[in-house]
Amino acid sequence: MSFELRPITGEEYLPFSRATGAAFGEVQSEEDANAVLPLIELHRTLAAFDGGEIVGTGILISFQMTLPGGTSVPVGGVSWIGVLPTHRRRGILTAIMAQELRDMRDRGEALGILWASESIIYGRYGYGLSSSSLQVKIDPQRGAFGRAPESSGRVRFIDKESAPSVIPPLYECYRLTQPGEITRSAERWKLEFSDPERWRDGASGMWYVGHEAENGKLDGYVGYRVKHNWDTGFPGNVLQVRNLAACTDQARADLWRYLLSVDLVSKVEVRCPVDEPLLWMLADPRRMQVTEFSDAIWTRLVDIPAALSARCYLSEDELVFSVVDPFCPENDGRYAVQGGPNGAECRRTGREPDLALQVTDLAAAYMGGTRFSTLARAGRVEECRPGALRRADLMFAAERAPWCQTGF
Ligand SMILES: CC(C)(COP(=O)(O)OP(=O)(O)OC[C@H]1O[C@@H](n2cnc3c(N)ncnc32)[C@H](O)[C@@H]1OP(=O)(O)O)[C@@H](O)C(=O)NCCC(=O)NCCS
Repeated sequence: MSFELRPITGEEYLPFSRATGAAFGEVQSEEDANAVLPLIELHRTLAAFDGGEIVGTGILISFQMTLPGGTSVPVGGVSWIGVLPTHRRRGILTAIMAQELRDMRDRGEALGILWASESIIYGRYGYGLSSSSLQVKIDPQRGAFGRAPESSGRVRFIDKESAPSVIPPLYECYRLTQPGEITRSAERWKLEFSDPERWRDGASGMWYVGHEAENGKLDGYVGYRVKHNWDTGFPGNVLQVRNLAACTDQARADLWRYLLSVDLVSKVEVRCPVDEPLLWMLADPRRMQVTEFSDAIWTRLVDIPAALSARCYLSEDELVFSVVDPFCPENDGRYAVQGGPNGAECRRTGREPDLALQVTDLAAAYMGGTRFSTLARAGRVEECRPGALRRADLMFAAERAPWCQTGF
């Protein structure tokens, strides 16, 4: 099948957005399309045209992402991927993926990231499952703390008027402490603070509560909605945490104390990282019930030497990886990475490899959320030199499980 692939013009935006909606089975309203238009970088859109009709879509969003060790690098965020049901399985997504990789490479984005609608789709394009997420629920009646950082400072509401100036810098302070977290543009914040009622799914508008340290400075916040429920005659509200961004462990603990103490709430729901410290603060940890374990961000090493040079490593070491990249065979080869806590350098090499693997698995281990040894046990990594798995596990370990609470 032949189709034209190119960025859209401003006039083509509404049909473009309708086509994405149609791929997801949604009728996209003009109002919703216009609300998100400021987030769209038109030159980073791609539409597949069949005649005059848009039949496939994709966009890239420019973010900075925090890496293990605290560096922050530009990444391409893949989104709005959709192909009309009338045109599926004819290679349109594959063409979009190839073009987006070229775009990222040209812009010096060493990494591509995405949230996948289905986990079977993106491995073929070299994306590796680099972080996971938990959906949990907690009955606040059972949410008493055992051992936890002492309470200090205070929590206070952040009103709608001050939220736009107070919250973005707090989020950015947190973002730099969390591997896998990404920047949010001014346009995105504007959309968040506009909080349209039609996107609340019957819950309240957003409430923002900040944590103020003893020195009077805000050092974390939580954003949540309350879904009201009095069906049984008793209060059964559900508190839905949308964002929890704390710059210190103290702030995180106090924000949790707050969330688990709001009156009339029978359930607190939150999506959280797999190493969420709350488990270790609760006196009765089984009460943090996991209702879903799921893949989160998928990562693509677009430029392997640049990506491996960009992060810091937990232990000082040097390893040679033999990498196979079926979707981009020009990346096939051996790479020597030498690094430690203060930085790293990676180059192509002719030396014998320590580990051999596919680019997807290097991407999975890259963010520190999965060990090479786990991948080896799954038959996905070959240890070419005895001891290399252990060394690689130590070197690539991250201070925290990678985590992103920003949808795109
Ligand atoms: C997912 C989607 C974009 C795929 O588009 P497409 O143009 O049909 O994909 P391609 O024809 O390029 O497929 C390439 C390969 O991936 C496979 N593939 C693609 N999507 C798949 C899926 N959802 N499930 C299983 N296999 C899939 C194809 O079978 C094909 O395999 P092959 O090369 O072995 O034949 C399209 O089905 C879609 O729009 N789905 C609904 C919206 C959605 O989920 N978007 C993704 C958001 S993250």
